[in-house]
Amino acid sequence: MSKILFNTLCIGLFLLSLFSCRTAESESWVDKALKNAEKQSLLMAKKIESMDGRLPRSTTDSDSLVTSASDWWCSGFFPGSLWLLYENNPDPEIRKYAELFTGRLHKEQYNETTHDLGFMMYCSYGNAYRIMKEDSCRSILVNASESLSKRFNVKVGCIQSWEPWGELHFPVIIDNMMNLEMLLWASKETGDNRFGEIAVSHADKTMLNHFRDDNSSYHVVDYLPETGEVAFKGTNQGYSDDSAWARGQAWGLYGYVMMFRETRNPRYLEMAHRIARFILDHPRLPEDKVPYWDFDSPNIPDDFRDSSAAAVIASALLELSSYSDAEQAEEYFSVAEKQLLTLASDVYTAEPETNGCFILKHGVGNMPADSEIDAPLSYGDYYYIEALLRYKNLKKGNS
Ligand code: GLY
Repeated sequence: MSKILFNTLCIGLFLLSLFSCRTAESESWVDKALKNAEKQSLLMAKKIESMDGRLPRSTTDSDSLVTSASDWWCSGFFPGSLWLLYENNPDPEIRKYAELFTGRLHKEQYNETTHDLGFMMYCSYGNAYRIMKEDSCRSILVNASESLSKRFNVKVGCIQSWEPWGELHFPVIIDNMMNLEMLLWASKETGDNRFGEIAVSHADKTMLNHFRDDNSSYHVVDYLPETGEVAFKGTNQGYSDDSAWARGQAWGLYGYVMMFRETRNPRYLEMAHRIARFILDHPRLPEDKVPYWDFDSPNIPDDFRDSSAAAVIASALLELSSYSDAEQAEEYFSVAEKQLLTLASDVYTAEPETNGCFILKHGVGNMPADSEIDAPLSYGDYYYIEALLRYKNLKKGNS
């Protein structure tokens, strides 16, 4: 072998070893975070296995577990987390619990009283069907899509979020964007365009009425059901009617990234980029990229962060990065990476067996209602696991 060839080979091997070290290094924290999530979720599963029909919700101030019945909007997140963890590590014990807790939502397929059916059924049965392809899950999801569709009003062009209360007639909240994914799935799966048309109409109306000039969103838009006219724009869970409630911005971002994935309509992609810019350029987004519970809270910097908003944003940004040009993709990816590294640190990740067996600490459920403040939240955990898996897959694809 010539000396030149030998030297070239050595340099090549050296570079290769450097690259593999880097990949291993970058994967090690994410694998550790997923292993920790699995451990804590199995502890949770064992803790609530014998609690008939109950599902994890949050904790009390003294760290004791709070559970819910299956009709609470968060009921699907824990089963969904288990399915995601099973996908990452096909261990029969995780599958056993994923099936057990998914089954606890069975009767909700006929629930016509909530707009949250997409969250509830698509995270649980949706993941189960995607991974296991069982026909029983398919029909449950189609029934749930029928139930959710009943809340659609043609005049308004939206799915009703809450029943009329106080001054509100037909309230629609930004969170409702998250329920559309199940309808788009049902449309493709059954060939019944009705479901997809409802989802598209809802997303278009939300784009028209929920967003301000700076691309932040109102939490609540109220419509007059008889005419479809907008009666009120404001908030319920944010600091004020004019403020940018952090999780609301996260739901909007995730919702339009998902709408683009499912329809390939470039208007949705454009909307997602605009929301991302609002969040990323905001002067009150902290250095570690975990937002305060509301971007306009006057108590910042002495205020609560919302780990759930960070997890949802991270997951959405990672997907958005794959629909972006190289420069944007790098920015979105690195912000999401920072969020996940922060969430995976001791500051946000609980020690096993503490935190009511939830993975993340420091979420904010509903500040104005004084509910679940600085607490673990099952949806924070779900989107954190989803984001870790998206991160891992993107890294794999890039290397
Ligand atoms: N209403 C859903 C949420 O709190 O984000």
